[in-house]
Amino acid sequence: MKTFYLTTAIDYANGSPHLGHAYEKVLADVIVRTRRALGEETYFVTGLDEHGQKVQQGAEKEKVTPLDRCNRIAGEFQDMLASLNISHDDYIRTTESRHKKVVRSLLQDLFDRGEIYKAEYTGFYSTRAEQFLQEKDKEDGVWPEIYGEVSEITESNYFFKLGKYQEWLLQFLDENPDFILPSHRQTQVIEFLREPLNDLCISRPKERLSWGIPLPFDPEYVTYVWFDALVNYITAAGFGDNDFSKLWPANLHVIGKDILAPPHAIYWPIMLRACNIELPKQILAHGWWTSSGAKMSKSTGESVNPLELIEEYEADIFRYFVMREMKVGQDAEFSLERFESRYRADLGNDLGNLVSRLLHMCANYFDSIVPQHHEAEEPEKNLIKRWEETHGVCLENFEKFQFSQGLESLSGFIRSINKYADERVPWKLAKSTEVGAFVNLQTCISTMIEALRLANSLLVAVLPEIHAKINNRLGLEPTEFWRDDLVWDYRLDGEKLKEKIILFPRK
Ligand code: MSP
Repeated sequence: MKTFYLTTAIDYANGSPHLGHAYEKVLADVIVRTRRALGEETYFVTGLDEHGQKVQQGAEKEKVTPLDRCNRIAGEFQDMLASLNISHDDYIRTTESRHKKVVRSLLQDLFDRGEIYKAEYTGFYSTRAEQFLQEKDKEDGVWPEIYGEVSEITESNYFFKLGKYQEWLLQFLDENPDFILPSHRQTQVIEFLREPLNDLCISRPKERLSWGIPLPFDPEYVTYVWFDALVNYITAAGFGDNDFSKLWPANLHVIGKDILAPPHAIYWPIMLRACNIELPKQILAHGWWTSSGAKMSKSTGESVNPLELIEEYEADIFRYFVMREMKVGQDAEFSLERFESRYRADLGNDLGNLVSRLLHMCANYFDSIVPQHHEAEEPEKNLIKRWEETHGVCLENFEKFQFSQGLESLSGFIRSINKYADERVPWKLAKSTEVGAFVNLQTCISTMIEALRLANSLLVAVLPEIHAKINNRLGLEPTEFWRDDLVWDYRLDGEKLKEKIILFPRK
């Protein structure tokens, strides 16, 4: 079976990490861990996009070299990945020579085959911002003060023949209706392609931008943005090596909606097509975290920095919150109140209480040895049925990247274990002298332990640490493959458990 190759956007090295970056990496990590639990081999790449004007300007301001600045920022992003328990296999940086080599070889090949040409470009240029402006940059019909003097200039640049592939791409999207998820995004891309597609300017003269990869056929120019950044996906898969086909085509590119069209949904498929390289199988475009309705970024100046919550609450809590709170593809509003309430309700009251009271009862009544169950009666049958439904719904949602919905049904199941206890009232059974009370108590505790084991197994991708802690209490290793673990078979009957644990202390 081909390795499941998953990539994320590579973050810009022009600022520190924030919630948007963290979310995307958690989402990708949960997808990858899900595939592993389903029995697939995976390869997971993320990284840093290091070239460009803003990086160069930022370094000038700090009076350091662009590479020094990138090294520092790479450190910050890598620390974030570690603190979130992200299980990536590679971290690609676009300043690495393995990457520059691939970019240059693609450019040379396209140039040799006439897919790239030189032409003049006329536009409005701001010397202060060192960039071309567009009509949309005007405010009330004039160039804003921040741009200083703006003049019309003509500059020669290199262009990639994007337009000639427009019809091909439309046909490709028509034949591959699941190429982009969610599906309404694919519809938007098709709409976008109804307008004529201009060729893509892929260069900047060196005197304006030096922090980039020089064009192999004209060292007076460097590549501009997307021809550098997008190529990381094939560099990391080992383009040019014999092993390339082990990873490529990528199974999934996970990105935010802002960089779907045109970069990932138009430039990238066309670049690959022009280079005779297979297209990735799927692109998943997630939504934005917002704050008071606006896209969150480093500069939004939140009163709480969501990334500080990782330290205060641990990675798993943060992972749970972002995966439960945001329906993949939609936007979600960040608020500390929501965060605290998810922690208290879903995790503390439902899961945490179940674990601690169940282990406590098993210790009290059975010296921590899971009792043998007896024949299932109505309450047990209902809970088992509930499990069968939950397990199906959950896996189906996880496979479709609908983690919020999958976790919602899992939370419902966890609550029904607690309800089952309220129905069976084991604490009363333990004191009762009635005939059959002890047998019922045995079945009740054994049933709850089995239900907890199963629910916990489904948590492995989202809450890997909490999952491992719970399994450890049950005397089990962390779940490796679901196919072995998701069957209701009372396998812990007769096993010794460990003492209780407080998973989610009150804050
Ligand atoms: N460097 C480019 C991507 C090149 S991929 C070949 C870039 N970098 S970025 O740092 O601006 O964004 C990185 C990822 O974070 C993008 O997928 C972007 O959508 C995501 N997010 C940035 N802010 C976000 C939110 N507020 N919410 C969710 N994700 C957003 O674009």
